[in-house]
Amino acid sequence: MDGLGLRNVGSHCSISEMDDYEISRLLDKPKLNIERQRSFDERSLSELSVGLSRAGLDNFESTYSPGGRSGFNTPASSARNSFEPHPMVADAWEALRRSLVYFRGQPVGTIAAVDHASEEVLNYDQVFVRDFVPSALAFLMNGEPEIVKNFLLKTLHLQGWEKRIDRFKLGEGAMPASFKVLHDPVRKTDTLIADFGESAIGRVAPVDSGFWWIILLRAYTKSTGDHSLAETPECQKGMRLILTLCLSEGFDTFPTLLCADGCSMIDRRMGIYGYPIEIQALFFMALRCALGMLKHDAEGKECIERIVKRLHAFSYHMRSYFWLDFQQLNDIYRYKTEEYSHTAVNKFNVIPDSIPEWVFDFMPTRGGYFIGNVSPARMDFRWFCLGNCVAILSSLATHEQSMAIMDLIEARWEELVGEMPLKISYPAIEGHEWRIVTGCDPKNTRWSYHNGGSWPVLLWLLTAACIKTGRPQIARRAIDLAETRLLKDSWPEYYDGKLGRYIGKQARKYQTWSIAGYLVAKMLLEDPSHLGMISLEEDRQLKPVMKRSSSWTC
Ligand code: GLC
Repeated sequence: MDGLGLRNVGSHCSISEMDDYEISRLLDKPKLNIERQRSFDERSLSELSVGLSRAGLDNFESTYSPGGRSGFNTPASSARNSFEPHPMVADAWEALRRSLVYFRGQPVGTIAAVDHASEEVLNYDQVFVRDFVPSALAFLMNGEPEIVKNFLLKTLHLQGWEKRIDRFKLGEGAMPASFKVLHDPVRKTDTLIADFGESAIGRVAPVDSGFWWIILLRAYTKSTGDHSLAETPECQKGMRLILTLCLSEGFDTFPTLLCADGCSMIDRRMGIYGYPIEIQALFFMALRCALGMLKHDAEGKECIERIVKRLHAFSYHMRSYFWLDFQQLNDIYRYKTEEYSHTAVNKFNVIPDSIPEWVFDFMPTRGGYFIGNVSPARMDFRWFCLGNCVAILSSLATHEQSMAIMDLIEARWEELVGEMPLKISYPAIEGHEWRIVTGCDPKNTRWSYHNGGSWPVLLWLLTAACIKTGRPQIARRAIDLAETRLLKDSWPEYYDGKLGRYIGKQARKYQTWSIAGYLVAKMLLEDPSHLGMISLEEDRQLKPVMKRSSSWTC
């Protein structure tokens, strides 16, 4: 670990990462422990960051916070400070532990939902890669990294399988959407089965799984200080394979990643095909995480060079063309069309008539967000929660953009949070549009499920984004809302309705990521130094574009 702290990190690509390795060792932990004696309400975040910068740190990313190992049922984070934990916390830990999945005696993940009342199991009895992320963070924050390591190794092993859909072979780097452990009580054997999209409804490969895997590998490394896992040839190869799938050259004119509908958390047809913000934000974050973990050996170096080039083009593209605020909306509204050549202002030939009515009212004077999708003559103006939060955490959003995203959430609280945090997307699509876009999907009717439903799991992402932008009070408000319902309602998967007031029509109960998401949100607020696991500071090399409105024309 010490040797790694001093390893030779290329100066061109990750100065901030290099700082981390050094700083993680320099940071004197007691300081944060003392801070923790006072309630987080009393101390402002800026106060905390001043404390950190005084120690030579100017960001949370640098903080190193290994959790203390706890007793089986005792959450370490609440046991070791003066907080009176909310009664829900103990219940949540118990429920989370009930969801553990074992392979040959070792915990390797958490099942998607432990809902015994539901007649239909579908695939909720599996360990989903994306669903395990909040569980993993909860365990890391609680000083229990083993399960995360086991999970990373198991899924890496699955990546090595040959993946086929009918007669077609998938790329080597593809990671599974989910896996399942089959216990044979007679022969006393455990076997794994995995789904790479070949069993999934719609047969879509999960593009997000590989990105989450890389992000989690970094979280594990940051949280434990154990670099040896990421340094193994297997993990190095795993990262390279995932990225090779995304960095290959083709016919694309954009640096963003072209995707099929339903390839992420929104895993059914919802009109997110093309360049969905969720995938773009995760792609960016995974690229930056990999940059800090790839070795500078022959194979690693080549990958690193491609990442650096891609990041450069990517951040420019996203910050310029996906960003929408009042000014930008007004510019698009006045666009001329059918422009040709390099001087075109309206580069993608967006027809102003295609701007939906709702967005004019939705856009506050102060605030902004990354829109859902940008491709030729098509801008999906919907707001998506995950993409915008991950944009903040990965610093895909500039500082100003991050602040604007939070301003918008505050200004549109009723619409985006309502009575249950947090809308997965806004607004819902209905009527004829719903028929065309979803293919008449009865699960995705308006204000339900992926179509404007409210997902408690998103609370952890909101909380992390709030802490990063220095606005913990927003997270606290959201958590308070969740605490009035989640336990009473048995931890539903999602809520329905414009305000998120009703338990989702087909929502599972005891949905693990609703439980884990709540715990992570609580632990982040309690000890903001945990944020370093899942946040990256702005990379000085990826200079923000000068000005949004002028960038559009340059
Ligand atoms: C649903 C969700 C997906 C999640 C899975 C397991 O299919 O759309 O995002 O991973 O359930 O909870």
